[in-house]
Amino acid sequence: MCGIIGYIGVKPAQSILLSGLKRLEYRGYDSSGMAIISLKKQIISIKKSPGKIKALEKILKVTPLSGNTGIAHTRWATHGVPNQVNAHPHQDCAGEIAIVHNGIIENYEALKNQLINEGHSFRSSTDTEVVVHLIEKFYKQVPLEEALQKALRLLTGSFALGVISSREPNKLVGARSGSPLIVGVGANENFLASDVSAVLAYTKDVIFLDENELVILSKDSLKVTDFNGKTVFKKASRINWNVDQAEKCGFDHFMLKEINEQPKILDNLLNSRIKKESGQIVFQEQHISEEVLKGIKDIFIVACGTAYHAGLVGKYIFESICSVPVRIDVSSEFRYRDLLIGPETLIIAISQSGETADTLAGVREARKHGAKVISICNVLGSTLTREAEGVIYTHAGPEIGVASTKAYTGQLAALYLFALYLSGIRGVLPQTKINKYLYELRKIPAKVEEILRRQKDIARLARRHSHFGCFLYLGRNINYPSALEGALKLKEISYIPAEGYAAGEMKHGPIALIDEYRAVVCIAPQSKVYEKMISNIQEIRSRKGKIIVIATEGNDEIAALTREVVYIPKSDEIFSPLLVALPLQLLAYHVAVKRGCDVDQPRNLAKSVTVE
Ligand code: AGP
Repeated sequence: MCGIIGYIGVKPAQSILLSGLKRLEYRGYDSSGMAIISLKKQIISIKKSPGKIKALEKILKVTPLSGNTGIAHTRWATHGVPNQVNAHPHQDCAGEIAIVHNGIIENYEALKNQLINEGHSFRSSTDTEVVVHLIEKFYKQVPLEEALQKALRLLTGSFALGVISSREPNKLVGARSGSPLIVGVGANENFLASDVSAVLAYTKDVIFLDENELVILSKDSLKVTDFNGKTVFKKASRINWNVDQAEKCGFDHFMLKEINEQPKILDNLLNSRIKKESGQIVFQEQHISEEVLKGIKDIFIVACGTAYHAGLVGKYIFESICSVPVRIDVSSEFRYRDLLIGPETLIIAISQSGETADTLAGVREARKHGAKVISICNVLGSTLTREAEGVIYTHAGPEIGVASTKAYTGQLAALYLFALYLSGIRGVLPQTKINKYLYELRKIPAKVEEILRRQKDIARLARRHSHFGCFLYLGRNINYPSALEGALKLKEISYIPAEGYAAGEMKHGPIALIDEYRAVVCIAPQSKVYEKMISNIQEIRSRKGKIIVIATEGNDEIAALTREVVYIPKSDEIFSPLLVALPLQLLAYHVAVKRGCDVDQPRNLAKSVTVE
């Protein structure tokens, strides 16, 4: 998964492309490059470098590129090791065309062999390079966009592309199929980018390209077509994020900023969905009719990673509030299952980015079986949101930190709201009970705020435990998924092996791990399974395990079992995962910082995995 950006306008392209690349670095950061058409010599000049974008910046400081039309790329390698040769942009044999690509060309080997037989010479071992040679092959007495259309029709796989040619220096062309691509519409300038954060500093007017659409840009014109050249009308969206939102706002890392944004985001999400006067729950972009939702026989939740853990909480929520049977699977398994689903199955696809390849593939499989799809997503206009019948946006703003935090609690809040909405229209819970839940839910943002007021204590506790080489997270019932999520948060940013487990399973194996070298996080808020958690804590104590407990305020017995307690405010147990998430996120964050890890861009990870 990579980040691409293109610029065409009256200003020098280099600094605009570079600043846009930096905002896209979270999409992949193992190498980067830039190509600009120099006006004087009517040639394309390219600079590329392995490593993060600052390596490219250093090169450009010494040998800058001048010109007003250019493309740039930050890479997360899928084919070809991250090095200078494999970094994008890639060029045709004659060096007259340059291309940047996000996605995977699945039939690139066959195309490459055919092109080599036709005399093309390849420099890299990437899949992308076949595209620019195909364009070269068709770029004879036709405009660039036509050559590109011919090339695209031969490709299978996913792509978001930016293409320039020194033969048409006043043109920037883009195309997408399976990977996101937006157009930034400016005054006397236009932009292409993988997502809005790369262009927000220059324009808030954005067009989201849909599947199999191509755009031809000049500095003051814009035309969108399908891959057959048929014009497509598109409307620009006004993006209400400003650049600061994507900045760190004074926090050391995006992740910490995003952890601290959660009270506001949850408040906004709940206020925008619950009508003040009537208490009615509304979803503006959810287009599946009440009739269809009343006829749903079962729910199948599909997601990856943290979104999957939100879905696991969702299973408890829907079964408790809607009395609907819920199945759940990670997308990479779901997409290859023999699916026992049909028109009466409601698929809930959860994805922060809306671009996760496995989740998109799962949704496409499900729709072949006639199932209706609702997506819970954070990125406006992302592919998943356009392939589902209905969307519930979490509106958490750009989540730059690779480890998902605010998007996770946003997904949980969306699941609670949708479950209450579904319960209401299906007549499962009386409105009085639904109103009581909503009343409780509305108090959660303030309770999250309360936990954040104590984050310094949690940071100290985290630092006291940052030397442990292995962590076990234990939870029960609706907080069993919280244990899985807590373990994922820690392992993905601190690289410490961490395992989430159903606490009741401890005696079936994991208890063998317990000794004084192991830190065990026990999630034990007030609940119907609290006493069971206390038994687990006793078992761990007797084996000298180092225990950290998350407990409910006012619980004064727990201190007798361990000094290491993080208290969360009282709440109805069904909402406790929203509160438990905060200490788990902060614990992971501060352990990782103490260990000097790259918290926002952990090794080997990318923010959105748009390849299989
Ligand atoms: C979460 O902290 C991870 N970065 C990762 O597991 C992520 O949740 C997963 O890749 C799914 O991404 P999505 O929500 O964008 O689909």
